[in-house]
Amino acid sequence: MTVLRFDNVSKQYPGGQAALAGVSFAVEPGEMLFVTGHSGAGKSTLLRLIHLVERPSSGAVLFGERNLARVRGGGIARHRRQIGVVYQDHQLLEDHSVAENVGLPLLLRGVRRAEVGKRVRVLLDRLGLGARAQALPAQLSAGEQQRVGIARAVIAEPALLIADEPTGNLDPTLSAEIMALFAALPERGTSVLVASHDLALVRRMRRRVLVLDQGRLVDDIAPEDLADA
Ligand SMILES: Nc1ncnc2c1ncn2[C@@H]1O[C@H](COP(=O)(O)OP(=O)(O)O)[C@@H](O)[C@H]1O
Ligand SMILES: [Mg+2]
Repeated sequence: MTVLRFDNVSKQYPGGQAALAGVSFAVEPGEMLFVTGHSGAGKSTLLRLIHLVERPSSGAVLFGERNLARVRGGGIARHRRQIGVVYQDHQLLEDHSVAENVGLPLLLRGVRRAEVGKRVRVLLDRLGLGARAQALPAQLSAGEQQRVGIARAVIAEPALLIADEPTGNLDPTLSAEIMALFAALPERGTSVLVASHDLALVRRMRRRVLVLDQGRLVDDIAPEDLADA
């Protein structure tokens, strides 16, 4: 079953020109892909349509078998719980420890504290953050903070992870490290969609790349076609 499908999606903001125009693509379970393009190409808009921050002007966005146009009211929060989101500026709770930040999505889902603690420990160890569990976000490096943001986004094992310019505030070495972390997530069954204007970084990851240009999907590059990049 397809995780995500854009079917001829266009988006026009009030008074603006088309932010997305006739965009179609599908994402399979466990697939990782990037969406790239210049500033203003429509990358953030594409992600906002998935997270129901915006609605398409025409066309359909399907998550699983469900047309998101039919998701309204309380269904929006339920929909969002199935998607992990990583932000450019991590948005961690500054007065809570790393472990508390990462465990929060599980607590909100009603998972018992003992179970939350266990799952948080396993994930933090896997991300190389085991020794930082009791630290506050401000005590971490920028790369560590972003890793905590990723941990929080994946702890509840969402079907899809979306990230908008997740390396925007990191230097090239840390950016590569964070991208490698994203690339490892599909092994756990989570599909990953990362928006980045950094085409050189994206090409080096050797994954599928969607290229947006002024709202149009102008290329959908398979990993094997990036081999000589
Ligand atoms: N809330 C908004 N209202 C009006 N226009 C917007 C809004 N958000 C984005 N846009 C416009 O839509 C286009 C695509 O923007 P965006 O999706 O942010 O692109 P990207 O993330 O690739 O830089 C741009 O022309 C931008 O100015
Ligand atoms: Mg953007």
